[in-house]
Amino acid sequence: MRSSSYSPPLADPPPSSPHIPALPQRPRFHQRHIEGADTVRKELSEGLVKPQAEISPKFLYDELGSSLFTAITLLDEYYPTRCENQIFSRYAGEIVGHAGRVRALIDLGAGDCAKAERLLEHLKPAQYVPVDISADYLKAAVRRIAGRYPDPDLVALGMDFFHDLSLPDEVLPEGRAFFYPGSSIGNLPPEQAAELLANMRRQAPGGAIIVGVDLVKPREILEPAYDDAIGVTAAFNLNLLRHVNRILNADFDPAQWQHVACFNEARSRMEMHLRARKTAVVRWDGGERRFEEGEAIHTEDSYKYRPQTFKTMLARAGFGQIRYWTDEREWFAVFCARA
Ligand code: TRP
Repeated sequence: MRSSSYSPPLADPPPSSPHIPALPQRPRFHQRHIEGADTVRKELSEGLVKPQAEISPKFLYDELGSSLFTAITLLDEYYPTRCENQIFSRYAGEIVGHAGRVRALIDLGAGDCAKAERLLEHLKPAQYVPVDISADYLKAAVRRIAGRYPDPDLVALGMDFFHDLSLPDEVLPEGRAFFYPGSSIGNLPPEQAAELLANMRRQAPGGAIIVGVDLVKPREILEPAYDDAIGVTAAFNLNLLRHVNRILNADFDPAQWQHVACFNEARSRMEMHLRARKTAVVRWDGGERRFEEGEAIHTEDSYKYRPQTFKTMLARAGFGQIRYWTDEREWFAVFCARA
C-alpha cells in the first residue's frame, strides 16, 4: 500500500463580505413559472375523460420512470440512443465544424447533460445553457459540468420550451446553437415540431441547430424497440398509472392494463397506449370513468421521418446549409443547419 502523508481538506473560501462585490456566480439557475398542482390535476383529469382518453407523456418521467427510461436505452431492441451515440462518436468534429462559431450552446431537455458534454470538448462555447422543465433536475449535472469545464459560463434554465422559447437576456445573443438530441422532436406532431423549429431559428439569428431525428424503418424493427422482450418498456409505460394515482389520488390498478406499441405507417409514427385487459371503473379526486375491455389510453406518439421530409421541414422553418449524418444502418440521423 502506498503511504501518503495526511493533507487536510481544502478550506472553504471565507464567507463573502458585503463590502466585496460578488463575482458572477457560476453556475446560475433560473426557474420560470411551473404549472401549479391544480392546473396539473385539471389537465390530467380532462385528458382521462376525453372520448379517446389520454395522459401526457410528461408524466412518464417520475423518479422510477426516469430510471426505467435509462434502462430502456440499454435494451438490445432500443436502437435510437446507440445509433445517435455512434453518429456523435464518429462525426462530432464534422457536425461541430458545420455549426460554425458557437458562443452559446443551448441544450433543450438537457436532463443529465451527458450528451452535450461530449460536444463541449469540440465546441468550446463561451456559455453552456442547459434547459429542462425544472431547473432542479439540472442541479447535479450542472455542478458536475462546472467541475469538469472551468471555462464556459453556465446558465441553467427551468422552463417549458414547448410553450415559450424566449431566453433571458444573459444568454449570449450571438452565435447561439440549439442542441436537441434524442428523438424528442419526434414526440411532437409535425405541425408543432415545425413551429418549435421556427422558434429556435428566431431565437438564434446567425447561429445553428443540431437535432436528432429517428428515421422511418420497417415495423419489425420499430415495434420491438417500443415493446421489448423483457418488459422494461411495458413497465415504463405502466408506471405512468402509478404516477397518476399519486397526483390525482386515483385508483388505477396497473395489473389490469397492458402496454401496446404499434407502428401507424400511414402517419409514420409509433403509437403508445395502455389498454384495459377487462372492464375497469377508475375513480379519482373530482372524476371517474368506466373503461370497456380493450379500450385504451393514449400515452405517446413517436414520429419517424424520412431524411428528405425533415430536411424540407428545416428549410421551411428558415434554416439553410442543411446537412445530416447517419449511423451505418441509416436508422437515425443528426441534422445540423444554420439559422
Ligand atoms: N421519447 C422516447 C421515444 O420516442 C420515449 C419512449 C421510449 C417511450 N419508449 C417508450 C414512450 C414507450 C412511451 C412508451 O423514443
